Amino acid sequence: MLAPLVLSLAAVLVRAQEPVPSVPASISSAVAPAATEVPADSTEAGVQLFEAETTQLTDAVVTDIVNTPEIADYAHLFAFENTTTQLSERAKRQRRLLKCKSAPGDLLYPVKLVWGIFDLLLGGALEPIVPLASYCYKDSEFDNYNADKCAAVTAGWTTGELHYNDPGSIMWPLYTGPTCLLPGDAASHGNCTQGGYSSYSVHVTNVAQIQLAVNFARTSNLRLVIKNTGHDYNGRSTGKGALSLWTHNLKGIQYIQNYKSSTYNGPVFKVGAGVQGYELYQAADKYGVSAVGGICPTVGVFGGYSANGGHSPLMQLFGMGSDQVLALEVVTASGLFLTATPTVNSDLYWALLGGGGGTFGIVTSAVVKVHEKVPVTVAQWSFNSFVSGPEPFWKALKFFWDEIPNYNSNKTYSYGTIINAGVGYLYTMAPFFATKKTVAEFNTLLKPYFDKLTELGIPYELNVTHYDTFYPAYQASWADSDFHIGSTAGTPGVRLVPTENWATEAIRNKTWTAIRGAIDTAPVITIYNQRPNNPAKIINSVNPAFRKEEAMVLMINGIADPSTAAGLKQAEDDFANKIMGPLRAVTPTGGEYGNEADPWNPNFKADFWGANYARLAELKKKWDPTGLFYVHHGVGSDEWVVEDGDRGFRRRMGGFVGFEGSWEGSLCSCVDIFTIVKFNL
Ligand SMILES: Cc1cc2nc3c(=O)[nH]c(=O)nc-3n(C[C@H](O)[C@H](O)[C@H](O)COP(=O)(O)OP(=O)(O)OC[C@H]3O[C@@H](n4cnc5c(N)ncnc54)[C@H](O)[C@@H]3O)c2cc1C
Ligand SMILES: *[C@@H]1O[C@H](CO)[C@@H](O)[C@H](O)[C@H]1NC(C)=O
Ligand SMILES: *[C@@H]1O[C@H](CO)[C@@H](O)[C@H](O)[C@H]1NC(C)=O
Ligand SMILES: *[C@@H]1O[C@H](CO)[C@@H](O)[C@H](O)[C@H]1NC(C)=O
Ligand SMILES: *[C@@H]1O[C@H](CO)[C@@H](O)[C@H](O)[C@H]1NC(C)=O
Ligand SMILES: *[C@@H]1O[C@H](CO)[C@@H](O)[C@H](O)[C@H]1NC(C)=O
Repeated sequence: MLAPLVLSLAAVLVRAQEPVPSVPASISSAVAPAATEVPADSTEAGVQLFEAETTQLTDAVVTDIVNTPEIADYAHLFAFENTTTQLSERAKRQRRLLKCKSAPGDLLYPVKLVWGIFDLLLGGALEPIVPLASYCYKDSEFDNYNADKCAAVTAGWTTGELHYNDPGSIMWPLYTGPTCLLPGDAASHGNCTQGGYSSYSVHVTNVAQIQLAVNFARTSNLRLVIKNTGHDYNGRSTGKGALSLWTHNLKGIQYIQNYKSSTYNGPVFKVGAGVQGYELYQAADKYGVSAVGGICPTVGVFGGYSANGGHSPLMQLFGMGSDQVLALEVVTASGLFLTATPTVNSDLYWALLGGGGGTFGIVTSAVVKVHEKVPVTVAQWSFNSFVSGPEPFWKALKFFWDEIPNYNSNKTYSYGTIINAGVGYLYTMAPFFATKKTVAEFNTLLKPYFDKLTELGIPYELNVTHYDTFYPAYQASWADSDFHIGSTAGTPGVRLVPTENWATEAIRNKTWTAIRGAIDTAPVITIYNQRPNNPAKIINSVNPAFRKEEAMVLMINGIADPSTAAGLKQAEDDFANKIMGPLRAVTPTGGEYGNEADPWNPNFKADFWGANYARLAELKKKWDPTGLFYVHHGVGSDEWVVEDGDRGFRRRMGGFVGFEGSWEGSLCSCVDIFTIVKFNL
């Protein structure tokens, strides 16, 4: 049943090219794609540029646009930040006076002719974004009902694949309004509109297109969004009315055996920003090395993941995802294409690795360390409370919790899930990932725990398998971990629990009480034992809470009624009071992982970045002085507000309400317009 469905998905979803506004023939015949080829060694990363990166927008190309009479009047819209013509100065002044980003329907939103010219300069890479489920609606504004396509979208809705292969779709539809859900979704209000989806997408295949889009968005005061796979749990790869850059197709992977830099000598990959976990792992397997990525095979490794830390089943050996990155190629808010390394634009390098995706620039590729092959013993086990009753069940879990620092010192990683099944509790360890351990070593390490299960009268199923290398061990563990996608029924939050929470029996007990208490409200809790092998000298902005953690606790908050403001407020309150709140209170020096965070976290600056926040905020001002890049709970995001009157989610600086990152509403500056004029920013 499944195979034909998947096949038909690919066949049916080849989309009719939606029309981009057309321009008069006199213009289309005069305008060529705005790009030139630069030498592949024009970089300071120590590895040649990919083909996609040698195609660039330069001052000379901008001058060509100025010198094309048919479009000369529009040339300033595509010029770099430091271009000084009267028109570009006027655009800058105008942009600074506007409180909100221009959205479709606004007076100053670019007219169709300008979008058509933009598309010509991009070489035809522009496409309006149409919500995928619109094929299921007979009377939507998209007027594209199609039963076959609707069936394919319905079949693929809970897979990552459907969404990462689409320029505008995201995996957690709560953040698109939610609008145009599959008919029948609990959160659907029965309408299919553009909602919180971005408006236009650029299918990025080269750097010149990114530079053009950045310049156009900056000069035209557009909201700009970067979409890679759409995995982001806080909907940060979509934005109402935005111009969206789709980086998914930047796929290069190149192996270099002897890379030399000021901080590292050894083997590396140069990888495109669109490379996903499974592609990285397959390449590493092919070259006989190990590479660091996450547990989900389809997460983009050099989009959101390494921009924000990135935890991994290999972190106990090799450090965080961000720690792997030696050099980045990036387009900044000024439109320039730059290299960032520990010695070149070193402050930007520091900010891009930890400061979060979609905030400091658009990464096009990274040079990353790879490591020796790693043998792994993978163990899975499960038990429940039905035979033993709840008290022994919780005692067993607490025993494991107390042992976590020991497991970390022994360089292992694990992923154990507790489910509240109503009539009792289920526990599945899937898996315990014992890197560089034989089965005998695993058995010795876990013997006290399994003895405890026996003592408590808990029957368990155990399966232990040894693998000589990472990739097959990984596949046996997480090959199919695209869970819960397409749902509006819940959202995760995580807490990074520091070593000091194991210091005494009293604090261990208090911490455990907070976790155990959450299961009454959170239907699913996953505990990761994880502790990164930290570099001797830290040269990135990864959340300091990761550096001293022993465990990450991920709790899924069920949203009983995602269709109303009251239902969402209930979910927010549950996180604050019953799920994350108690654990936050007993982990004052812990933190939260921005990529898997409670979307309502009231304290995101301190929780995501700790003492690094102040410098990140300064660097945000330096590299993005006009706030071109905005994401929900990103660095500097508190200077913006999504004005969303119709759902009662009007947010003001300091006071958080709702999903302002992508909720339906205009993105506006919190700084009062008169203040802007006064200080002549
Ligand atoms: C099922 C699942 C499992 C996961 N497992 C793990 C795990 O094991 N370890 C872990 O650390 N995380 C994990 N995550 C979280 C994951 O790291 C984040 O969702 C991450 O942000 C995804 O990045 P992306 O580029 O694929 O997604 P997107 O949603 O496309 O992008 C995420 C953010 O990065 C920005 N961005 C994307 N590309 C670029 C670019 N080229 N330049 C600048 N900004 C960019 C986007 O604007 C957005 O803000 C998991 C998520 C899911 C859904
Ligand atoms: C803009 O900055 C870039 C990089 O510093 C430089 O190459 C270019 O000449 C500058 N252009 C102008 C018009 O100043
Ligand atoms: C759905 O659309 C109809 C018709 O435009 C409108 O009257 C109704 O309020 C919409 N429902 C919601 C919940 O937005
Ligand atoms: C590894 O585990 C063993 C057995 O529990 C323990 O005695 C030892 O201290 C641990 N090793 C380290 C390095 O902590
Ligand atoms: C044990 O786990 C491996 C994956 O690690 C799996 O292939 C195998 O089928 C499992 N065996 C049993 C009996 O569950
Ligand atoms: C910790 O909890 C256990 C189990 O409930 C209890 O026996 C022990 O006395 C507690 N210790 C402290 C210091 O609170």
